[in-house]
Amino acid sequence: MSKRILVLPGDGIGPEIVNEAVKVLDVLAGEFGLDIEMDEGLIGGAGYDGAGHPYPEATREMAREADAILLGAVGGPKYDSLDRPLRPERGLLGIRSDLGLFANLRPAMLYPQLAQASSLKPELVAGLDILIVRELTGGIYFGQPRGQNVLENGERQGFNTMVYTESEIERIGRVAFEAAMKRSKRVCSVDKANVLEVSELWREVMERVAKDYPQVELSHMYVDNAAMQLVRAPKQFDVMVTENMFGDILSDAAAMLTGSIGMLPSASLNEKGAGMYEPIHGSAPDIAGQGIANPIATILSVAMMLRHSLDRVDLAERIEQAVGKVLDDGLRTGDIMSEGCTRVGTEGMGDAIVAALRAQAS
Ligand code: IPM
Ligand code: MG
Repeated sequence: MSKRILVLPGDGIGPEIVNEAVKVLDVLAGEFGLDIEMDEGLIGGAGYDGAGHPYPEATREMAREADAILLGAVGGPKYDSLDRPLRPERGLLGIRSDLGLFANLRPAMLYPQLAQASSLKPELVAGLDILIVRELTGGIYFGQPRGQNVLENGERQGFNTMVYTESEIERIGRVAFEAAMKRSKRVCSVDKANVLEVSELWREVMERVAKDYPQVELSHMYVDNAAMQLVRAPKQFDVMVTENMFGDILSDAAAMLTGSIGMLPSASLNEKGAGMYEPIHGSAPDIAGQGIANPIATILSVAMMLRHSLDRVDLAERIEQAVGKVLDDGLRTGDIMSEGCTRVGTEGMGDAIVAALRAQAS
């Protein structure tokens, strides 16, 4: 039976980069026997513009039926003045929560061809391969109470709540340990247990989960130190597991170590194995519509989809090889450009990856 894929281009550079990833899916369907059906839907600002809501009902229905979702990015300055519940970001949080996509996998892997593009010295990042496991449907992003009110003295106050139950911590912990079993068998749990009660509980539950994985070495690190260690000696990490907001922040930092945030894919999975796949970068409104955005993170997100939701590791590897080949050939978008390489735009990069895939078929 064919698998249903819902494509949600979103805002900013979203449609441009998703377009290239869809070309890749088309080739896999046409030439490598991938049995899929694709639908397209609205999300984020595009959802608001087209259907009055950042996570429209029609999208919700398709999302619940899909085996996997490919998302571009959401957000843009045009929507900044909307009421909070109508903002594009709420569409993204809405779909994550609606589908129970609690496990966000954000690999930060350095392609050797890009060592020069990293903000750190090449020797500090050569061979870098970190997996950040970010909890995605709890913590301060969703905790109640939240809001703004006016105090008796007339001053306004804003507040959010970082809250986790033991079961929420345990299930994300298991995802991290399972992932570590397939890698170097080290998990670093990142928290702020010197200040936050919620982190104390987080730490305790991680220790408990660790007992089921005696081969895996568990360490703990405060989030401020983890941020520092990521830019000081990033290769000390294998799997990092952390709560929603810490993971948001640390994954951007880790991404930059790899040369460009334009290279990194992500997967957000639920308990049933359905997943949403998206680049970890945002909608980059400053370069939207110019045809210069790097589509590689989105194309590599398709590889993650093949691995985690479509059970086609063989095709995931083909995509990763094709990306490697194109980088070997010296093709670069502006964000990863370096001396001696050939600069291409979004379409140029997508077409080159598609050509490299086709070459594998012949
Ligand atoms: C991310 C993004 C989102 C987040 C925004 C767009 C809501 O930064 O996926 O990392 O904070 O989770
Ligand atoms: Mg982020």
